[in-house]
Amino acid sequence: MFPAHRPRRLRRTLWMRDLVRETRLAPEALIAPLFVVPGTKIRRPIPSLPGQFHLSVDRLAEEVEALADLGVRAVLLFGRTERKDARGSGADAREGVILKASALLKKRLSNRIGLIADVCLCAYTTSGHCAIPGRGGAVDNDASIRRLAQIAVAYAKAGADVIAPSDMMDGRVGAIRRALDAAGLSSTAILSYAAKYASAFYGPFRDAAGSAPPASQDRRGYQMDPANAREALREIALDIDEGADIAMVKPALAYLDVIRAARGRFDVPIAAYSVSGEYAAVKAAAAKGWLDERAARDEILTAIRRAGADMICTYWARDAARDHARAKH
Ligand code: PBG
Ligand code: ZN
Repeated sequence: MFPAHRPRRLRRTLWMRDLVRETRLAPEALIAPLFVVPGTKIRRPIPSLPGQFHLSVDRLAEEVEALADLGVRAVLLFGRTERKDARGSGADAREGVILKASALLKKRLSNRIGLIADVCLCAYTTSGHCAIPGRGGAVDNDASIRRLAQIAVAYAKAGADVIAPSDMMDGRVGAIRRALDAAGLSSTAILSYAAKYASAFYGPFRDAAGSAPPASQDRRGYQMDPANAREALREIALDIDEGADIAMVKPALAYLDVIRAARGRFDVPIAAYSVSGEYAAVKAAAAKGWLDERAARDEILTAIRRAGADMICTYWARDAARDHARAKH
């Protein structure tokens, strides 16, 4: 009989396709990024990220409860401040939203869902940079990592389970690990944005977080060149050596090769961040009727898992988890 091999046998029926699927997309692998703003009773749609909201701490709790009910296992918190300054005091000010949010969520949700706190300065500094400025337009690496470690300790003390530094300064994972341990917070984990690229896909996020660098500047002095993959492996190795428990590659879709290479090389869990531009681009095309959002979403998220990511930070977490729960019945 010709042909001898008929791989289509395994594709003919839904039950068979389900049975032989190599990559499964479950809510347990999803992390939902959330934007916390000062004030109360705020749930304001974010124009650059359709379907996402600016949430005051009180409304955040409802959102996180809904995510926990859907089986999402962690949230990633980003804060905003009304008062920016040179050292980003707003990040860990007593009335700062991340401190308040961490404390409230820990109390209301206990350990039903993980609280990951993004640690960076860009949303809190007047310069708009992820670091403290040094001489001649450069960044002051050492002052920056001291400050980041301070913020990390404050977040962890308030209730954050995981610290996620996204600044790309050298040595910050080690500085944060030592500061956490010295403060008696040795169970707090570190998810490092280990290989974070200077990407064009962050635009919608910077609008949402109020963290755009000045128009004349960019972050290429500390974020990675998109042309480099081997360098990503060096960055990840350093972060693991300094104490990172989970290493993240960001963005995801344009860096599937990096995710794959990281998965093959390292034994720590690998996370991928499907960033704002990946989400907003699909949303915009879907709004025009050019793409089926749900199909495109599942294809993208599945591809990121297939490349080797154990977990995905995605603005689709809630929708994907909800559809997953519905599909079961
Ligand atoms: C910076 C930071 C960025 C994102 C989260 N934190 C990138 C940047 O502005 O350079 C991007 C997330 C996204 O686009 O979804 N600390
Ligand atoms: Zn930053």
